[in-house]
Amino acid sequence: MNNFSFSFCATHYSNFSPCSVAILRLLFGARLRESDRALSFRPSDMTSYWLHFHDNSSRTVHRAPADNGANQTITRRGFDRMNGRENSRWILSRRSWLSAVLGLGVAPGLGQVAIARSPDTPIRLSFNENPLGPSPRAKEAILTQLNSLERYTADKGEAFRAQVARLENVEPDQIFVGELLEEFGLQLAISGQPGGEFIYSEPGYAALVGAVSPGGGKVVGVPLNDRQENDLPALAAAVNSKTRAVYLVNPHNPSGTVSEQRAFDAFIRDVSTRTLVLVDEAYLDFLDDYPERTAARLIRQGANVVVFRTFGKMYALAGLSMGYAIAPKALAASLRANGLGLTFEANCVAVAAAAASLADSHYVPAIRELVAQEREKWQELFERLKLRYASSKGNFVFFETGRPHAEFAAAMLREGVDVGRTFPPADRWTRISFGTAAENAFARSAVEGYLR
Ligand SMILES: Cc1ncc(COP(=O)(O)O)c(C=O)c1O
Repeated sequence: MNNFSFSFCATHYSNFSPCSVAILRLLFGARLRESDRALSFRPSDMTSYWLHFHDNSSRTVHRAPADNGANQTITRRGFDRMNGRENSRWILSRRSWLSAVLGLGVAPGLGQVAIARSPDTPIRLSFNENPLGPSPRAKEAILTQLNSLERYTADKGEAFRAQVARLENVEPDQIFVGELLEEFGLQLAISGQPGGEFIYSEPGYAALVGAVSPGGGKVVGVPLNDRQENDLPALAAAVNSKTRAVYLVNPHNPSGTVSEQRAFDAFIRDVSTRTLVLVDEAYLDFLDDYPERTAARLIRQGANVVVFRTFGKMYALAGLSMGYAIAPKALAASLRANGLGLTFEANCVAVAAAAASLADSHYVPAIRELVAQEREKWQELFERLKLRYASSKGNFVFFETGRPHAEFAAAMLREGVDVGRTFPPADRWTRISFGTAAENAFARSAVEGYLR
């Protein structure tokens, strides 16, 4: 084990915003500790260095022990030499540090990564992915898991279910592991008389309702309101004796709007006494006050509600297709009896990555802040161009371009930006997902150039 440490003046740290500190944590792994003006953190690969922070009088305010029991402090030059970067410039501004290390191109003019894209290799801003990448702990867990691919997930799946249940403060039996929207849709459709109605907001993400027709289900779309929000009164009014479930995405996709909290709770309390309410919270963790907003609170109080979460958005594990659902006890028992959500054969790599992601308490605040900064920049642009836009709280924006989506999307593709599909019936609106800061800046200038 090759442990060593180096000093870093607290005066530099004092220039770091909470976001930057959060990203440093993200970058170097778990153990970033913070006292008044001091930090110390250890990289997650366990093989390299410790980083020590000092106060202004050069006193070491925090120092973690080296594995060999002796703390070694090396100079920056020594550190550079050991890392083959003898002539590197050490004094990085906060922004160029982040840009250099993360490749984020944090701000225009400061470490911005030059981007040149063509229609053949466009920047993909169409799937609401998180291109900032997964937690370092998730990556580490994936690598570790590669050593036991020959084994079934078995008890690791159960342990993950228990971890999620603790986090959500429900019984493990109420947790279903996996990407389950389609399976839930189909199961619910076949679980009663043919012709059961599934109500959802239009335009909207339709994976769940899209799966009900082979089971005899019928889809009923309710338009979003003028603010591009779930129209709660209209959705409630659409419930009738044939309704099998109401499916709500909060924050909504494609608009990103979040329903006002009290109205949303009142809606769920009322409608869940008449039918099952399904709440997809794929993007809810982009909000700071997510624990106070989640409909899981109402499941804990016994409401007839199912909540869905995914690791494909905030946690940047889209390629692993992992999520979970929280269900009321009675429904959970009947769905499980039908074979839904068995963990024994869950994908062990996805389980390991998801479990490690949840255990990394530094990752979400860092991503959340970066995403919020990007949303602000987009909204400034929409204001400047006097475009109508939805008040998105997700990692994407939705705005009215004033021309058919196909025309706008083709123009963006010519500029090297893939904005993806249309969301009928909102044919003159476009959704753009966030990429890295540099990609977003590039996309904004393409939008401005075309719509100005
Ligand atoms: C609202 C919503 N729910 C669920 C998903 C599914 O995400 P994943 O397939 O990555 O789990 C998406 C993906 O776009 C989404 O927008």
